[in-house]
Amino acid sequence: MKTYIVGNWKLNFTVGEASIYLHKLMKALPNHRDMEVVVAPSTVALQPLSLQIDRHKMKLAAQNAFYRDYGAYTGETSFLQLSGIVDYAIVGHSEQRYIFGQDDKMIAKEVAAAVRNRIRPILCIGETESERAFGETTDVIRDQLLGGLSEIADDDLEKVIIAYEPVWAISSTKVSKLATPDEVAEVVKLIRKTLVDTYGKKATEKVSVLFGGSVNPSNAGAYLTVPGINGLLIGGSSLILSEFTDIIEVAKRVKV
Ligand code: PGA
Repeated sequence: MKTYIVGNWKLNFTVGEASIYLHKLMKALPNHRDMEVVVAPSTVALQPLSLQIDRHKMKLAAQNAFYRDYGAYTGETSFLQLSGIVDYAIVGHSEQRYIFGQDDKMIAKEVAAAVRNRIRPILCIGETESERAFGETTDVIRDQLLGGLSEIADDDLEKVIIAYEPVWAISSTKVSKLATPDEVAEVVKLIRKTLVDTYGKKATEKVSVLFGGSVNPSNAGAYLTVPGINGLLIGGSSLILSEFTDIIEVAKRVKV
């Protein structure tokens, strides 16, 4: 299985800044046959960066897209329009769920639209702080996972990457708000068990599960060694080139 190191740039970098970053990153990338390095810039930067990127070295992801291919949907970008430009798309990120009101139904259609357009969706799931406090983590994870996968054929499961991102651990500056590797391990086990119960053992073995939530060079190793984890989805730390390349080095050490 490949190890995925995915940088989610969120709403940061102008197109020019993104291009300079990408240039430097490609120069700094080590040889990594078993590692897939991916960055997710803003939509406006994707097309120019797709001309600049060396796809043997790394890939691009969209941060979000709309599930219809075309039509009267002012302001939206479709997966169809992104096909050929990106190889991956983040789908159902908690910021899309909680700031922009995306629900599991819509996210399921986005997962299906991505697969239909040959883009690998990175389906983000995760409980909020209050859901965890009320003991609802298991239900939330199951609902978001099976809900998000509900519009694709069983055979397409292996095309989907799952990212566990506890909402309470995203963009955290306090150590007390970081997920411990044990907490991550418990939810990853639940994700894999839910998939095995629904799709069977063989199909589940092909699914990659990533972790995201304030990952940085000092905690990356601990998360990468959690059983059942195949990579990381990194926000803040991916904006600093030296931190992002340090995480890639850690991944190379512990995984490859
Ligand atoms: P963070 O973001 O690494 O800044 O917590 C992760 C994410 O939201 O994908």
